[in-house]
Amino acid sequence: MLDQFVGGGTTAVEAKLTHRNFVGIDINPHAIELSKRKCEFDFDTQATTSLAVGDARKLPLGDESIDLVCTHPPYADIIHYSEDIDGDLSRLPMKEFLFEMGKVAEECYRVLKKDKFCAILMGDTRQKGMVKPLAFETMRVFELAGFKTKEIIIKEQHNCKATGYWKTNSIKFNFLLLAHEYLFVFRK
Ligand SMILES: C[S@@+](CC[C@H](N)C(=O)[O-])C[C@H]1O[C@@H](n2cnc3c(N)ncnc32)[C@H](O)[C@@H]1O
Repeated sequence: MLDQFVGGGTTAVEAKLTHRNFVGIDINPHAIELSKRKCEFDFDTQATTSLAVGDARKLPLGDESIDLVCTHPPYADIIHYSEDIDGDLSRLPMKEFLFEMGKVAEECYRVLKKDKFCAILMGDTRQKGMVKPLAFETMRVFELAGFKTKEIIIKEQHNCKATGYWKTNSIKFNFLLLAHEYLFVFRK
């Protein structure tokens, strides 16, 4: 299993607990350190965990070498995961973000085995009061890379770090809260 935006290592921990060989990549060395620490728990398994700094747009993996991709990319210019790391997609505005996600989707397609699945968690955003359907735009980017959309699963979310900020503004400026994300399940 591959997570090329491994962040704090949630998928790495779950992979270990479900006996899956795991490859985790992140552009931020702090994320890799954190993921390594989280995976240092005793659990009886033969599965391997490999964590390394890298770029989701250029994976150090062979063609058709991965059985499952499960990942949670940053969302264009919403939460910044670093101040100055070159290649950190969380710092890009939406148009540039989607262009770079095209490269991510192509790499993802290259390394995944035929007929296997790729699950991507994505949310939308709001700019100047209007919804920007970033998640569906990202879905389209993955379809253009060759993937077929198998499922769209809606994940409700409440009480996130930014909920207070958005709730205050939603009352002040009269808009609905975005309280869900999409889990797109693609098939190669
Ligand atoms: C939404 S977070 C992942 C959160 C993760 N699911 C967790 O449980 O902590 C997105 C991650 O993508 C990383 N990232 C941003 N640009 C990247 C790139 N070009 N290649 C790899 N990782 C990148 C960020 O450093 C951040 O850790």
